[in-house]
Amino acid sequence: MTQFTVFGNPIAHSLSPQIHQQFAAQFNLQLDYTRSLTSKQGFAAAVAGFFRRGGAGANVTVPFKEKAAGLVTHLTARAAKAGAVNTLIPLGYGQLAGDTTDGEGLLRDLQRQLAEAALARTVIIIGAGGAARGVIEPLQQAGAEVVITNRSAARVAPLLERFSGLQALDYSALAQAPRAGLATDAILINATSASLTAEGLPVHPDWFAGSVLTYDMMYGREPSAFLQQAQRTGAGKTADGLGMLVEQAALAFALWHEGKVPDTDHVVSVLRASLS
Ligand code: ATR
Repeated sequence: MTQFTVFGNPIAHSLSPQIHQQFAAQFNLQLDYTRSLTSKQGFAAAVAGFFRRGGAGANVTVPFKEKAAGLVTHLTARAAKAGAVNTLIPLGYGQLAGDTTDGEGLLRDLQRQLAEAALARTVIIIGAGGAARGVIEPLQQAGAEVVITNRSAARVAPLLERFSGLQALDYSALAQAPRAGLATDAILINATSASLTAEGLPVHPDWFAGSVLTYDMMYGREPSAFLQQAQRTGAGKTADGLGMLVEQAALAFALWHEGKVPDTDHVVSVLRASLS
């Protein structure tokens, strides 16, 4: 049976095995998809060992996406721009390709949430870590005006250099009502890791109220504190990152299985039900 795995730390709660088994069932494929817990020091050896033993593909999650980008022998253009890899594809003869499907996965989920012309609008991203960096260019290419804001201003400057057209917003401005028009029909995305600790963010209610969608890249049984802040304003839609997780997985699946693109809507519903 073909072997797949996901590398991360922590990894016990990863839904990737479940997702890929559901995709495989859609095509009557048999595969084994495991979770691989590894340390920072052990990551490179664990990846090399997996592919030496004949692994057919692997995903990489927090906190190894940047490290993985430095490990592969071939990097796709979008992974190079993001500086991150979430999908590893063996090329034979010890060669390994690294790609990232996170940005495209987010785009697909935003399109699911908002339908037509979803992305020809302002998208405000809170956060400047790997999660934010991976989605900036795909959003720009899809027609969005991307604005970034981060608690530590020092992390924003390198992003402005890296991504032309990217705009910055003072983090303290989030705590006040937005200047006229900025949040109107925008998409507001939480790409920080604050939701991991059940923390909300210092965002004035009018940012949520003016937005067409408030999105948190994290997902869980309950809406995150950030999504609850948005829901309290009673306006606009909210969505968590479960759809993005399934979409990025579907794109990785296609890379490993000759372009076979699985149906994702049903898988999102099954996972949603299993969370509650
Ligand atoms: P990831 O790869 O998941 O993006 P990261 O590179 O550690 O992880 O980045 C975490 C992001 O979440 C950063 O933008 C961080 O802000 P700082 O650069 O100011 O540290 C943001 N973050 C984490 N906890 C936060 C909190 N409680 N409030 C605001 N931002 C937070």
